[in-house]
Amino acid sequence: MDELDRVAVLSDIHGVLPALEAVLAEPEVAAADRVVLTGDITAGPQPAEVVDLLRAQGDRVLWISGNADRELVEYRRGERTEIPDPIAPYAATALRADQIDFLVTLPKTLTLSVRGLGKVLFCHATPRDDEEVVLVDSRPSRWAEVLADLAEDIRTVVCGHTHMPYVRLAHGRLIINPGSVGMPYGRTGAHWCLLGPGTDLRVTPYDIPTAMTRLVHESAYPEIADWADYFLNARASDTEALETFGPRDGRRGEAVVEGDEVVRALLAAMATLDDLVEVGHDSHSALSTLEEIAHELGRMDSGERRRFNEVLERIAAEEPGRAAWIRGIPHALGGPHGRDRA
Ligand SMILES: [Fe+2]
Repeated sequence: MDELDRVAVLSDIHGVLPALEAVLAEPEVAAADRVVLTGDITAGPQPAEVVDLLRAQGDRVLWISGNADRELVEYRRGERTEIPDPIAPYAATALRADQIDFLVTLPKTLTLSVRGLGKVLFCHATPRDDEEVVLVDSRPSRWAEVLADLAEDIRTVVCGHTHMPYVRLAHGRLIINPGSVGMPYGRTGAHWCLLGPGTDLRVTPYDIPTAMTRLVHESAYPEIADWADYFLNARASDTEALETFGPRDGRRGEAVVEGDEVVRALLAAMATLDDLVEVGHDSHSALSTLEEIAHELGRMDSGERRRFNEVLERIAAEEPGRAAWIRGIPHALGGPHGRDRA
């Protein structure tokens, strides 16, 4: 693998054309050996224009699919009937058929050798999943879990998804999140980073009132004025975003899935409520409690769901008498809840 001197990383552009144009106009982006897009390129107000502009840059741009790009493709192909993000169905229909066909081909990760950083793995959320959450303050055991399957020679990992920039070490590996070009939390501007030989977290300011006016004129999304005001002005603070996303990295006290004992206790409570509903005893409050549990479980992201299913499978194997009921629980749960989008 040839070693590259400079790589620009643009993450979570989310169809915000004026922000993308501002970053592409940066001399260091124009001069970079490669530009890597770490996913969530399209889910936003101007997806077709953003894809066209990036494809016009040619082979120096390397693309990775994010969970939001995947959701648009699934929606257009009839593999899902809804997407929790309110702007996503609009974005899905605003893309041309040839652009959908292109997005289908995108990889989930790629590896490059960068001067000063060694072998660098680029992904959207984590190397193993396109929507699970890790944050700057995720605990060491969480990092060990999400990096467990990584090849030993990968010393640097670049991930996006949470729209907040940081650089930190995790078990000897350098972790870099460039933040978001189009939907930043905590601070305005188009966030990106320049790799090689160091890691330079950058923010490109652009004229936000002018960009908002452009979006209102150029995007047909009915709620574009409110959408642009909220995201371009970074109305959500980084503290609010960390509080919202925090529970999704399984941190103590807020975890949806914490371990076998917790899941066992949850199953015991669900079984008791089930019995109460069956014998007609106080069935109203038992049913609403069951619904609340199902709602919380339905908010799990794919990584949490996988851990939950693994625990269920262990318990089912130990309890053949009610294994079918235990294994049926994931099927009974709905899709992910609409808030906490990244
Ligand atoms: Fe995103």
